[in-house]
Amino acid sequence: MNRIFSGMQPTYALHLGNYLGALRNWVELQNQFESIFCVVDLHAITLPQDPKALLNNTREVAAAYIAAGIDPERNILFNQSYVAGHSELSWIFSCLTPLGWLNRMTQFKDKAGKNRDQAGLGLYAYPVLMAADILLYKATHVPVGEDQKQHLELARDIAGAFNRNYGRDVFPLPEPQIMGEATRVMSLRDGTKKMSKSDASDYSRINLTDDADAIAQKIRKAKTDPEPLPATIEELEARPEADNLVTIYAALEGTSRLDVLGRFAGAQFSGFKGELVDLAVAKLGPITAEMNRLMKDPAEIDRILRRGGERARAIAESTMAEVRDVVGLLRP
Ligand code: TRP
Repeated sequence: MNRIFSGMQPTYALHLGNYLGALRNWVELQNQFESIFCVVDLHAITLPQDPKALLNNTREVAAAYIAAGIDPERNILFNQSYVAGHSELSWIFSCLTPLGWLNRMTQFKDKAGKNRDQAGLGLYAYPVLMAADILLYKATHVPVGEDQKQHLELARDIAGAFNRNYGRDVFPLPEPQIMGEATRVMSLRDGTKKMSKSDASDYSRINLTDDADAIAQKIRKAKTDPEPLPATIEELEARPEADNLVTIYAALEGTSRLDVLGRFAGAQFSGFKGELVDLAVAKLGPITAEMNRLMKDPAEIDRILRRGGERARAIAESTMAEVRDVVGLLRP
């Protein structure tokens, strides 16, 4: 049986990069796999979070999942901390994970910065918790972006280490699930940097909560160069900001960059941006509206998350019973 697990952190608001790069693909995957979509609040606290903001962001990410088209009845949608098994399995995996494996993780090096002694143990162990997320449900496929491939590789290594150590085939080795042409959405201020929720400039990204005016302003102010749109992909790729806007257009429309160039080659960016605003507002407007509608009733979002949490817990408990038996831990 194939099963998908994936998650996003409830830090800041979700943006266009999260939607085009991940959420939109999840909506497709829910038709092909039994799917578990998680709001990974325990991962969020590996860096300092304001408690009120964290809780609000957890609901907002859940609302974004639903607004984007993920069906919380057909799939399991929940927040990570609801199911204690994530932390429990993470501890057991910690005891099997050599420090050398974690020392190779590039994201820790980036996030810890220069002052590594001040970084928390949780930030260091982040990929072990991620392995636990996936393996607690024996997920076989994990849709991840480029930046999470190394962590998924580690999850496979940990699954293998557990199975070898205990001489039992408890965990499948989860595969990355790459969807068609992955859309990498870059910053609107710098076409060489990924669109990111941690960028200091709000003009660098389109948030899923932005209204039509905000979307229009951000696209009009997006960095470009003075040349008109080119006719070929080669010329486009030498111009990161131009490439990014064309990529976004194609992704929102569900066509290709070449299709878009076929229609806009030779046009000025001012005109193209006007068309992009219309398209972005048409595609994102309904999602934003649905998110806002859901966020007006936080208690209903909580009910959905708890229902999902109960279903997740049932699977988690059966894995944990097996793990306890194999490791030699008395069952509760
Ligand atoms: N680390 C992932 C990210 O920041 C989020 C995540 C946590 C995740 N656990 C996961 C993704 C398990 C896939 C599977 O994007």
